[in-house]
Order: sequence, then structure tokens, then C-alpha cells
Amino acid sequence: MAQGDTELEARLEEQDEFEPSEEFVAQANVSDAGIYDEFEENWPECWERAADLLDWDEEYDEVLDDSNPPFYEWFTGGELNACHNCVDRHVENGDKNRVAIKWEGEHGETRTYTYQDLYREVNEFAAALRDLGVEEDDVVTLYMPMVPELPIAMLACARIGAPHNVVFAGFSAEALATRMNAADSRFLVTCDGYYRRGDPLDHLDKTNEGLDSVDHGVDATVVVDRLGDDGFGHDLKGNQHDWDELLDEQRGERVDPVERDAEDMLFLMYTSGTTGQPKGVKHTTGGYLSYATWTSHAVLDIEKEDTYWCSADIGWITGHSYIVYGPLALGSTTVMYEGTPDFPNRDRMWDIVEKYAVDVFYTAPTAIRAFMKWGSKYPESRDLSSLRLLGTVGEPINPRAWKWYYEHIGNENCPVVDTWWQTETGGMMITTLPGVKNMKPGSAGPPLPGIDAQIVDTNGDEVEPGRAGYLTVNKPWPGMLRTLYKNDERYISEYWEEYSDTDSDDPDDWVYFPEDGAKVDDDGYITVLGRVDDVINVSGHRLGTMEIESAIVGVEGVAEAAVVGGNHEVKGEAVYAYVITEDGYEEGEDLRARIIEGVEDAIGPIARPEQVVFTPELPKTRSGKIMRRLLEDVANGAELGNTSTLRNPDIVEQIEAKVHAQSD
Ligand code: WTA
Repeated sequence: MAQGDTELEARLEEQDEFEPSEEFVAQANVSDAGIYDEFEENWPECWERAADLLDWDEEYDEVLDDSNPPFYEWFTGGELNACHNCVDRHVENGDKNRVAIKWEGEHGETRTYTYQDLYREVNEFAAALRDLGVEEDDVVTLYMPMVPELPIAMLACARIGAPHNVVFAGFSAEALATRMNAADSRFLVTCDGYYRRGDPLDHLDKTNEGLDSVDHGVDATVVVDRLGDDGFGHDLKGNQHDWDELLDEQRGERVDPVERDAEDMLFLMYTSGTTGQPKGVKHTTGGYLSYATWTSHAVLDIEKEDTYWCSADIGWITGHSYIVYGPLALGSTTVMYEGTPDFPNRDRMWDIVEKYAVDVFYTAPTAIRAFMKWGSKYPESRDLSSLRLLGTVGEPINPRAWKWYYEHIGNENCPVVDTWWQTETGGMMITTLPGVKNMKPGSAGPPLPGIDAQIVDTNGDEVEPGRAGYLTVNKPWPGMLRTLYKNDERYISEYWEEYSDTDSDDPDDWVYFPEDGAKVDDDGYITVLGRVDDVINVSGHRLGTMEIESAIVGVEGVAEAAVVGGNHEVKGEAVYAYVITEDGYEEGEDLRARIIEGVEDAIGPIARPEQVVFTPELPKTRSGKIMRRLLEDVANGAELGNTSTLRNPDIVEQIEAKVHAQSD
């Protein structure tokens, strides 16, 4: 086989365009190339196609109200309930015994929820939330790991019209408190703990620490007992309730789904931006759900007969749109896995694909690069023939990793969709429609039908194919964020100001800026190059360098810090911290350890610096601005850019020498 493999590798190496198989195209949900023109000619009414995938209690009057840009409204006048669309309608339509969620714990235990099971538990939990005092429009924070109670809680919130605010379980106590304070959230659902690499992790201790810093106090907390006998023996406090006991009290209860206005908030999700304060991205019921469902149908090609697995965490937007809302609205089976990909062995992912005969698999490039490093013998030891389509999300994928995925996971039979989107866009924006377009490894593809994206220069003029520029979106879309929570001004300044005429009422003068760099080729395929703001992307997780810097500066003995992203073979980017100590404090292991601890406490282990480099000064311009580009060059071992505008040009070489000394 080795000989054949080498030939195959060589052939794939050469190939830069791949066609979907006839077999795939024949069964694809979307296979008519005319869809691009159809959407363009019939814009914005084309989006009725997305709304038609849902049940509406009240038909909408207008597809798009663009009278007050950039505060666009979609499907105005319409009313619907997201939980009804993801649960009740399948029960009513004869699919009550179809499996909705297949959950696998890290230790191999499994739980299966049919749509009927989901209906029962969501209703009971919705009743419990009401009894705890949750009213329509109250924000409920969900600080939970990958357990089935997380999507159940999300759907229960949606049922009673209480927006959820999911905080990734890997975030720290402080990060939880920041997000609860910012969202004015008085209710919390959490968990006693979960398993990581075989060991139980205490989550309730961290939760309680966070709750101590919630300024406005908390009315009620619900705690899921995940660990059972492995638990840490916490006693629940006065306003803390056990999930199972609450459900027992509500046995058989039913709660009618409330009719929500299409523009009513479905959820908030905090994400990192340029400043230290995370942004509360607001998504609505009608537009978001239509868009997540449409893209699940058109791009992920999900049908209700499918078993579909997205290996993201529900704590991020990918899990919201493509583990919970999209797949469940379509009535398919969504797989959830609690643990890490290499526990107990490096074949764990492929074991799950084989066991559940997964049809469609969606993951992050960082995971693919790790699989590649571990070697193809792990996927080869499993039967992956059930797979029909593969996807990636979260960061650019290098052609080598793309081809490895295509060959070793997809057996050259499955199209690979490289999907570009953001927390703010709600769903996929730029990617190939797998039943229509050829794929080009390394390039996400053309904008989806109905999406108008352009690559421009700093003046907003379109750049030629092949040249790097800034990605912009020129027309609104249903899944877009509506604003930043209680901060319309920041919404405009973060996303619109750069390329819009902000005095104009004409939607044509408004341009959305996602803060990514990109280039386009002659066929209109877009390659996204990465963030152009101070956000870095570590293992597909979006982190603000300012947030990390303020955590480091909070450590005793640190005077100043600058954080940049450096290239990393598996993680894509890694955190590099350059630190100036205060007088009287020693640079060394003790301070380095305290800095790492400070970052983990403020944000979480995902933001842990790969390298901490002590330096007497940071490279600054004459006006005092830190030259991050140069620090990035140092982190990447790249040739240094122009240092002539620096006030202290010598410092860069000194820092460089230190980095080399540390890496040796
Ligand atoms: C990056 C994740 C290149 C990009 C859904 C974006 C990508 C940020 C891709 C959003 C891709 C996401 N190719 N880059 N296919 N997908 N990105 O909000 O920089 O966690 O702005 O949403 O990830 O990250 P977020």
C-alpha cells in the first residue's frame, strides 16, 4: 500500500481543483447552478426560501425592512417559536421516534434522545424555569460542558422566550461573571463537573467563584449532576437547585411555546473584539433560525434521515448553529461528544463515526492538523464509509491539511466544504455549495447565493484578483447580528463605520466589515487570510489580545504587556506574550508561572501563553503605539519588517535574541 499512497499523495499535491462526485450531486439538497442568479435577481425575496423551511405562527409581512440601516429587520410581522421548530413540529409530523440527539460521554456511556424524549424534557425544564421566576425576555446564562442538558436548556429558554447566553465551560470564573454582568442575567444553569482525559473536573467550584462577582446578584442557579459518585461533594446553596429534582417535580408538565416576534432576541453570545470588553452579539428568532436552517440544508446537505456530527463545543457559535438549531430544525440526528479526540485513544473520533454511521462530519482545521500529525493509521483502522460530506470551520485551512482530510477521512468520495463565517454572521457566508461548485483547497469558495461579498482596499475600492485586501459584505442577510447588547453605538463603530457613509439612510451606502483580510481569484473564489484587528485565533477559538494583555498587566510585578499571535503547527496561532516587569521584580520562572495563572484565571486555559518573553521595552512608534506587526514577525521567526519608524529600533533585535534563546 505504501507505494500506492505515495503515488496518491503526489497526485493530490498537484491537483488544485476537485469536483464533487456525480453520486453526491445526484442526491444533494441543492444541485442547480441557477440558484446563484436566481437569488441575485430576486433579492431579497429569495430569502423566503430560507423562511419556508420553518413553521410560522403568523406569516411575515415583509422579507426585509431596510429603512433604518444598519438596523435591518427580517421577516417583519412574522411570529414563530424556535423550540417548536426544533422539537414539537417533528413530534407532530410523525417523527417522534426519530433520534434527535445521540450523546457520547468521554467514558463511553451513551444517551439517546428521540424527538419525543426531547419534547418531554424540554417541556419539563421550561416549566421549571418558569417556576423559578424566569419571564419572557429574561436572559438565562448557561455555563455548561457538552452534556445533553445544554441543548435541552437552550430549547427550554427558546420555548418561553427567554434569551440564552451560553458561556463556554472552559472559560474562567471571571469570564463568567463579566458575561453575566454585561447581560444583566439573573439566572444560571450549570453543572457539577465533567470529564477531561479521564479525570473528573470541578465546574461548580469555578461557577461559585464566578457568582461571587456577579454585581446584581442571582435569583436562581440550576446544577446538573454529571459526575455522580465522582463528584466533589458540594452542597447546593439556598438558591441552587438540582436539575433532576426540578424535573421530577415537573413530571408530565407541558408549556405552550410562546409566539415570538421574528425580531425578538433568541440569544446573546459574547465574543472577543479589539477592546478588553467582550461584545454581546444579539441574534433574533426569525432571521437567525431561518439562516442556520437554510445553510444546514444547502451547505451541510443535511436531511432528516442523516446522522450528523459537528465536533465543536456548543459554547461557541458553531455549536449553536450547527449542533443545535440547524440540524434539529431539519429533524435530523445530531451527535454530541463530551470529551477530547485522543481519549482513550487517538482513534476516538473515527470510532464514533463508525459506531453511529455518521453521514456528515464538520470540524476545525486545528483538529485536522492534529489528526494528520497522529497519522492515517487511526482513521484507517475504522470503517468511515458512511460519510458523505465533510466540512471545516473556524480558521483558514492549508491545502495540505485539506487534502489529507479529503483523502484519509473522505476516501476521495466526500466533498469538503470550507466554511467562512463568524459569531456575528449567525451562519455560513462564504463556501462552496457542495452539489454545485468545484472545491479549491485553501480557498473557502464564492459567497453563498444571496451574499454579496467583495475584497476592497483601505479606500473601499475593489482590489484586483490575486491581491490581498479587506473582506466586506455589501448587503444584509437574515442571520446577521442585529446589534451589540445595549450598545448600538459600538455595533456601528465595530462593524460599519470603516466602509459606510454613516450619515446615509440608503442601505447601499452601508457596508459590513468583518475585520478579516482576504483575496479573490479569477473565478470569484475567496481565500480568507485572517483577522486584521487585534483578535487571534487559537485552535479555532477567537481571543482578544487586549483581554489577555489586561489579564497579564493585572499580575503583580508586571508593568506592561503586549500579546500577539504567532504561527503554530497545530493550533494555527498561539499566544505570544512580551512582558516588561516592574522595578524590583525579577524576571524568571516564578513570574512566568504567575502570568500564566493570571491568564487562566481571567479567561481560561485556552488563552494560556505559549511563550512569555521578558523585555526591558516594547517596540513603539514615536507616538507611543506598540508595533505589533514587528512582535508578530519575531514570534514567527520571519524577516523583520521596517523598523525605521520606531522610537527604539534596537529593542526588536534584543527581543528576537531572547525568543531564540527560549526556543532552543
Ligand atoms: C475566522 C467561527 C478562514 C475568521 C464560526 C473569522 C475563518 C473568525 C474561517 C470568526 C474559514 C472562520 N477560513 N478563516 N473557513 N471560518 N474564520 O466568531 O477570522 O468564533 O472572522 O466564528 O474565524 O470566529 P468566530
